[in-house]
Amino acid sequence: MKNDRRSESEDLLRKARSLFTQEELSVRVGCSRRTISRWENGQTRLPFYAGLALEKIISEASSFGSADTGDFTFIDLFAGIGGIRLGFERAGGRCVFTSEWDEHCKKSYRANFPDNGEIAGDITRVEASSIPDHDILLAGFPCQPFSIAGVSKKNALGRPHGFDCETQGTLFFDVARILAEKRPFAFLLENVKNLLSHDKGRTFRIIRETLVERLGYEVFWKVIDGRRFVPQHRERIVIAGFREPVPFNWDDAPLPEIGPESPRLGSILHSEDGLEFDRDDGRFLDEGGRVRPKYTLSDKLWDYLQDYAEKHRARGNGFGFGLVDKDGIARTLSARYYKDGSEILVDRGREGNPRRLTPRECARLMGFPDRFRIVVSDTQAYKQFGNSVVVPLMEYAARAMKPHVMRMKAERPHSVGRTFRGAS
Ligand SMILES: C[S@@+](CC[C@H](N)C(=O)[O-])C[C@H]1O[C@@H](n2cnc3c(N)ncnc32)[C@H](O)[C@@H]1O
Repeated sequence: MKNDRRSESEDLLRKARSLFTQEELSVRVGCSRRTISRWENGQTRLPFYAGLALEKIISEASSFGSADTGDFTFIDLFAGIGGIRLGFERAGGRCVFTSEWDEHCKKSYRANFPDNGEIAGDITRVEASSIPDHDILLAGFPCQPFSIAGVSKKNALGRPHGFDCETQGTLFFDVARILAEKRPFAFLLENVKNLLSHDKGRTFRIIRETLVERLGYEVFWKVIDGRRFVPQHRERIVIAGFREPVPFNWDDAPLPEIGPESPRLGSILHSEDGLEFDRDDGRFLDEGGRVRPKYTLSDKLWDYLQDYAEKHRARGNGFGFGLVDKDGIARTLSARYYKDGSEILVDRGREGNPRRLTPRECARLMGFPDRFRIVVSDTQAYKQFGNSVVVPLMEYAARAMKPHVMRMKAERPHSVGRTFRGAS
């Protein structure tokens, strides 16, 4: 039994060392290089916690950026920092084209997908014919014109929203334009749940009619709560489309149940026990591995948030801050989290005022692996993760769609069908 455990540990270490140097491993596990070396030469036994950490590191490394498996190809539109891409890569996809116009997002994207090549900018200026052929089109088109927060803000400012929003609302039609020209086997669109009810359902009806009646795709949508995968309540609509009739049904793909086993906030928080001391080169943690004090709310801000919440409570409104402890589930992380972070505040009990999540914790809250590099300022990182997707939810979508796409590919390996009806 003891020997079995020893050889398991040796195997783990060997696998981990085939992926990382001692130095890299020491940072990831949160120990010194000497310790790694002692484990390797058998001077000390691999402790249980380190075994678990190694398993996680190996599994993340094996699924991260596995772009060269290439069972199918895809394009990444409105790519942000590549959250949808990560999910589809994990299912064996290979990215052949990326579009994103925000320079900060591009910086993060390049740092994490260094082999990507050029990132195309404004999609409205990209000729559809210049985009490489691909099997699946991926697009999480901007959701602010449809999201509840976006709509009420735009209403308050007297600004148009949805399709009336000239700059952002019409980007869906750029997706349609590319689908019409490239005719991929399938697409996956991701958006806020409010897309369904926006403008009394008119917005979604136009989207559906465009995809089904004008472009001739079979369309299947489902609202899924990210809470099934991460400790965050985040309802998003996923719309899968197929160029040909397929026996696809979102309900055929089993989703993790929401229940006592669902992930809790504690699983994404820094351990603060010293084991993570060097995470992200100490950017978020101090020398003792504790979250840096700058993430803790000042007395002034904490007082203000409590007063504000009290006023709203008195008026019967449900707004206010979202205090959550390690056993809880976070509210939806938004792109505005950088402002005061009030929607997700980590309860520190007697230790003092609550604190914000660090950008690394936000990455984890969205299901990004720890290997995902955070190379932008905290403000930009909060915006980027708040705008992104729950990566394992995207992997789920990719795995649900993949068999149908593979079958279509096998039947018509290179066809770019032009069967759409009446698209102008
Ligand atoms: C909702 S976010 C998508 C985030 C992405 N799914 C991810 O995982 O990070 C929408 C993205 O579209 C980008 N965008 C908006 N208008 C664009 C345009 N005209 N051309 C290219 N990108 C655009 C924004 O900069 C933003 O990063």
